[in-house]
Amino acid sequence: MDGNGRWAKKRMMPRAFGHKRGVETVREITRAARDLGLEALTLYAFSSENWKRPADEIADLMGLLRTFIRNDLEEFVANNVRLQIIGDYQVLAPDIVEMIEGAMARTAHNTGTTVAIALNYGSQQEIARAAAKAAAKGEITAEAIEAELDTASLPPLDLLIRTSGEVRLSNFLLWQAAYAEMWFTDVLWPDFTASHLRDALSQFSARERRFGGR
Ligand code: IPE
Ligand code: MG
Repeated sequence: MDGNGRWAKKRMMPRAFGHKRGVETVREITRAARDLGLEALTLYAFSSENWKRPADEIADLMGLLRTFIRNDLEEFVANNVRLQIIGDYQVLAPDIVEMIEGAMARTAHNTGTTVAIALNYGSQQEIARAAAKAAAKGEITAEAIEAELDTASLPPLDLLIRTSGEVRLSNFLLWQAAYAEMWFTDVLWPDFTASHLRDALSQFSARERRFGGR
């Protein structure tokens, strides 16, 4: 989810305004994922590198996260959505940790779309943590590491979308992207709509995936 800052700047508004609009997009896209019957949608909300941003921006993002969980949890519950968190979320503020653990527990048995939110997430760190766990169990194979990734309870990654014209992965789902299809768009995240998601999915459906075969 990239481009909130540029979206706000174009309107001569503070970055916080862009992040706020970005949350509206999260709401629209999670609803669309549900309506389309997607098995899982993973959103990169806060990376392990985002701590480099100014403290006031980090505080704005954490505030929006609190409001989002507070306001949207009931909708997840009502619509059979399962909430998951990937990333090292334990180091976030204690009230946020408590809130997200409560939200995950409340939706744990839901069988509809899984919405995974990546918080304090970095893929290299995730792989290192998973490898250490696999090693502690005495087996460092690709399968053993994969089973310890934060995404172990999610289906394989099929399609990776990045908005705002950047064409890089920025430490997101590196392992999981091994055979994922990629879709890049210049649309800034606050302007991204369900219709863009449907476009991405229909182009995805038309692609031939061979997974190294022929
Ligand atoms: C959102 O967009 C990404 C988050 C960390 C939530 P940015 O804040 O990176 O927006 P740009 O890249 O400055 O436009
Ligand atoms: Mg950015």
